Amino acid sequence: MRRLLTLSAGLIVLMGLSLAFTQLSFEWRLRRTYDVEAEIVVIPTGEATIARGRELVQVGLCTECHGSNLAGRISINDPTLGQIYASNLTRGRGGVGQGYSDADWVRAIRHGIGPDGRSLVITPAQFYYYLSDEDLGAIIAYIKSVPPVDKVLPAPKIAPLGRVFITLFNPKDWFPAEKIDHDGRRPPAPERAISVEYGEYLARISNCLVCHQAADISAATGGPLAAWSEADFISLMIIGMTSNGQYVSGELMPWWAIGHNLSEDDLKAMWLYLETLPAPDSGN
Ligand code: HEC
Ligand code: HEC
Repeated sequence: MRRLLTLSAGLIVLMGLSLAFTQLSFEWRLRRTYDVEAEIVVIPTGEATIARGRELVQVGLCTECHGSNLAGRISINDPTLGQIYASNLTRGRGGVGQGYSDADWVRAIRHGIGPDGRSLVITPAQFYYYLSDEDLGAIIAYIKSVPPVDKVLPAPKIAPLGRVFITLFNPKDWFPAEKIDHDGRRPPAPERAISVEYGEYLARISNCLVCHQAADISAATGGPLAAWSEADFISLMIIGMTSNGQYVSGELMPWWAIGHNLSEDDLKAMWLYLETLPAPDSGN
């Protein structure tokens, strides 16, 4: 009996310690600051570039989280995890557009770091890191051009249990700044062409890998899409129909935001890239 009591007391202390550890480690991640000098990106003003920026904001799925007017909205609302709002990006009251400098935009989108130097949460900067100067410039130009919307949103609130889960399982997915080599050489931006490189670029900036683990959508021999043709892939991205006639809900996969804002050549490039992805069990 006494042994049992000692054992349970020990367990309780251990649990208390792990809880304290996860809370502290989460707090450290939240408060950690990064000293990153944003690259200088020219923000163009022409109408054509702004139109291109509007397309890229949909392709990059910014509108999926920040809303079609970019005024922000709830992104995660879960009693165990907490409440997280995607920020209001406009120049309205409560919008970050009022106070952001060009460098702030670059640092936030490409590095996942806010003006206070801390990692933002969730916004998938690890993928936007690859954005070329030209495309990033167009995106910022478009965001600056959207009508201001007054909407004050609360700061992220992450519940104690959410902090435990995040710390134990996937902290880097929550703090994108941790995933990025901020001082490394910038990856080369491929030219817009029907090429594997440009296809990979598009797959990155449109977040395919957030939902599909690397090779789940491989079209290489042995991959799940090996029997698909280029035309099958294009119709999935434009009408949401898979090669065997199944409809993929736009709620599950925002194919329309991506497919309707890319050209046919862009989709061909993406298909070329999927054909190079190693099949899931090929050992590569
Ligand atoms: C999966 C959802 C998601 C996607 C996709 C997303 N964001 Fe975010 N974004 C967020 C959340 C949530 C925050 C709030 C982060 C915080 O408060 O720490 C945020 C914050 C930001 C901020 C910082 C604003 C501030 O409060 O200082 C900028 C700038 C931003 N996002 C731009 C973009 C752009 C541009 C895109 C597309 C290229 C994009 N985001 C795509 C969820 C998302
Ligand atoms: C927000 C999550 C999400 C994103 C982002 C996303 N997908 Fe999907 N995708 C899904 C889901 C979920 C399904 C399965 C839908 C179903 O089973 O009905 C799917 C299905 C597919 C299929 C069909 C697979 C099959 O075997 O029938 C292909 C191909 C595909 N996605 C490619 C892509 C590509 C390429 C991108 C990036 C351009 C992408 N997806 C981005 C969630 C996503």
